[in-house]
Amino acid sequence: MTILNLEEQFMNRIAADEKIEPKDWMPDKYRKTLIRQIAQHAHSEIVGMLPEANYISRAPSLRRKAALLAKIQDEAGHGLYLYCAAETLGAERDTLMDELHTGKAKYSSIFNYPTLTWADMGAIGWLVDGAAILNQVPLCKCSFGPYARAMVRVCKEESFHQRQGFEILLTLCNGTAEQKQMAQDSLNRWWWPSMMMFGPNDADSPNSEYSMKTKIKRFSNDELRQRFMDATKPQADILGLTIPDPDLKWNEVTGHWDYGEINWEEFNNVVQGNGPCNKLRVKARKEAWDNGKWVREAATAYAAKREQRKSETKQVA
Ligand code: 3HC
Repeated sequence: MTILNLEEQFMNRIAADEKIEPKDWMPDKYRKTLIRQIAQHAHSEIVGMLPEANYISRAPSLRRKAALLAKIQDEAGHGLYLYCAAETLGAERDTLMDELHTGKAKYSSIFNYPTLTWADMGAIGWLVDGAAILNQVPLCKCSFGPYARAMVRVCKEESFHQRQGFEILLTLCNGTAEQKQMAQDSLNRWWWPSMMMFGPNDADSPNSEYSMKTKIKRFSNDELRQRFMDATKPQADILGLTIPDPDLKWNEVTGHWDYGEINWEEFNNVVQGNGPCNKLRVKARKEAWDNGKWVREAATAYAAKREQRKSETKQVA
């Protein structure tokens, strides 16, 4: 069977909406695209824990602390599912982590912004996890089986993340004038980086065409960004907050909210490592990895001992 036939067979399976599994034949480009995207997604989840960790000891009540702790633990789990999905494609965990620690790997640029007030915990849950839900629900139908299945559980947990964030902001907006201003200030700082989460405009997205053709991506960056815009504006109205976009305007013809130009220079600058917190985030991840070395060594030693005992028992039997 020639590569051409294999490619043709593969694309017929994609067209038939079949799930591609790790042991199935797949084009190298498909494998590489998935490893790239899943690794970036996994890195985003574990780096995404850092801005919120700052507020576990500053939560205003035990209930808020418990919800924030649960959310951060969920993000760690999301990262683990996704690293495992990347490993089914032949990626090495240590290599992926090294690429993160040396700044070679990308993760969502939004996590390179600082969390300055408690309202940021609300904005992150409401906006960042809200954007993540819109981006991740279609991934539940991704053509690669392990990625799609990981997303089903992730999306269930993201819904809780988004709701607890919105509730934090609703509480502040129903509070004192200072609390409402704190919520507005947070929206002002997190709005545009949230819109950037969906990636560059379709015309500037080098990966989208192949990802859409092979049903890794089900909708384009701009389609999902528009869904986020249309869903979030009414929520901001309920909060009584103003989205910081002077060009925001309801379009009677399209039935969507038109929004202003995104600052792609800022986006590229942050992606290239020049954001306010890039160095801090990578340093924190590297320290966590180094501090966890003894745990990995102990788990490996234990697994080896168990294998040795199993083979000794087999010999005796
Ligand atoms: N931050 C950093 N880099 C970004 C980015 C962002 N917000 N958006 C795009 N990029 C990068 C891409 O990785 C790509 O670079 P690469 O080729 O070196 O990997 C380049 O910009 C061009 O973008 P493309 O649109 O061509 O790339 P993709 O086709 O991969 O689309 C994406 C980008 C929509 C983010 C896609 O990768 C995706 O859906 N990823 C999985 C979901 C994800 O990562 N979600 C956000 C973070 S997870 C999260 O927030 C969870 C929450 O619970 C904390």
